[in-house]
Amino acid sequence: MSFSARSFRQSSIRERRKIIETQYPEASGNSDFALSGRDTELLDLSDAMVEQAVGYMGIPLALAGPFLIDGKELMVPMATEEPSVVAAASFAGSLISRHGGIHTHASPPVMTAQIFVEGLKGSGESAMDALEKSEESIRSHLAPMLKSMEERGGGWRGMDLRWISASETLAVNLRIDVRNAMGANLLNSAAEKLRPLIEEITGGHVLMAILSNRSLDRTATARFSIPVKALKHKNFDGKDTARRIVRAASIAREDPYRAVTHNKGIMNGIIALALATGNDTRAIEAAAHAYAGRFGAYHGLSEFHIEEGLLKGSLEMPLPFASTGGAVGFHPVSRWALQTLGSPDAPELSRIAAAVGLAQNLSALRALVSEGIQSGHMSLHARKLSFTAGARGKELNSFALVVQETAIKGREEAIKCFSEWKRANG
Ligand code: MEV
Repeated sequence: MSFSARSFRQSSIRERRKIIETQYPEASGNSDFALSGRDTELLDLSDAMVEQAVGYMGIPLALAGPFLIDGKELMVPMATEEPSVVAAASFAGSLISRHGGIHTHASPPVMTAQIFVEGLKGSGESAMDALEKSEESIRSHLAPMLKSMEERGGGWRGMDLRWISASETLAVNLRIDVRNAMGANLLNSAAEKLRPLIEEITGGHVLMAILSNRSLDRTATARFSIPVKALKHKNFDGKDTARRIVRAASIAREDPYRAVTHNKGIMNGIIALALATGNDTRAIEAAAHAYAGRFGAYHGLSEFHIEEGLLKGSLEMPLPFASTGGAVGFHPVSRWALQTLGSPDAPELSRIAAAVGLAQNLSALRALVSEGIQSGHMSLHARKLSFTAGARGKELNSFALVVQETAIKGREEAIKCFSEWKRANG
C-alpha cells in the first residue's frame, strides 16, 4: 500500500474519497460506501467532526416510548444498530406508564479532574500539607477560568488528595460542577492550568493532568412500582413472573458473569439515547461499569423486590450526560433529539437516561424469565431478510410475516419468494 498518511490527512474529504477509490477499489465500489457520501451536508459535517473523515455511517434513529417520567410523557430518541432495543424499551416504558410511571432524581453534575505528582519525598505527607493549606490560592488561580461556570451556579466544589502508594505518586483530585457540559474540556483545561502551581506548592513534578471518567459524583436514580398482575402475559402468571424477575436481578448482584450481561441490557437503552443526543458513549459506559465494580466485586446495577403485590424496581448509576458542548448540539440529530425531549438540562437528561435504562432492564428480565428473547429476535431477523429480498415500506412487515410463516432461511430463497409474492400481491 502506498499511502501517504500526511497527504491523506491534509486532503479534503472529497479528495480522500478519491484516494481510497484507488487504494481500495473493491471496497470503495461498494454501494454501501457510496451511500456514505450521498448527502453533502453530512459529508462536510463528518469532516468538521473528526480527522481523516471519509464518509458517515447511518445508524437507525427511533423514538421509543411512550415513557411517563416524573409525571411528564415523553418519547425518547434512540440511535442503535441492535434490533429489539427500541421495542423492549417501548414495551416496558408504556407498561410502567400505565401504573404511575418512573420517578427519578439526579445529583448535581460534579466531575473530577486529576493531577498526578511524582518525585515527592517520603509518602507525600509534606506535599499534602502544603496543598491543603493552599486550597484557596489553587481555587483563585482557577477563578477566571471558572467564572462563567460559577455564574451559572456551577464551579469549584473542592479538592481531595490521594497517595497512590505502589506508584509513589500523589493524585490531586479537583471537583467541579460543570452544569450542562460533559466537563472534559473544562476539567482538562483547569487541571493543565494548575500544573506549574501544583509543582511550585509540592516541589514535585506533574506527570499528567486529566479528567477522571469515574463520575462517582454525577449519579442519577430511577424507580418504579407496578402491580405484579400487570406482568401477566400469554400463559405466564404475573406473580410468578415478578418473583422470577426479582430472582434474576439478585443473581446479577451475586454472579459477575450474569451481572455484565444484565448491565449490558441496561446500557442498551442508555447508550442509544447517548448516541442520539451526541453524548460521549464511552465515558458513560466506562463510568457505569466502574460503578458496578466499586465494592470490589462486579454486580448488577438495578434492584428489584416485591412488596404488597407490587414489583418495585430501581437503578442508581453515574450518568454523565451533557446537554451542550462537543457533539451535543453540534450534530443536527442531537439538536433534534434534545428538542423532542423538551430541551432538558444535563441533570434532566441523566434522569431520562436512568429511566430508560431501568425500563430496558425490566423488559429484558421479563422476557428472559418467561418466553425468552429469541422469539422477538426471530421476527426482527425476518424483517432484515425481508429487506434483503427487496421489500420496502409496508412490504417490509407483510413479507416478513411470509418469511416467518414459510420459515425462509437464506437470502437467495428470500429473493426468489419475494418476487413471486410481489407478483401475486400486485
Ligand atoms: C441483549 O442485548 C441484552 C440482554 O442480554 C440483557 C440481559 O440479558 O439482561 C437481553
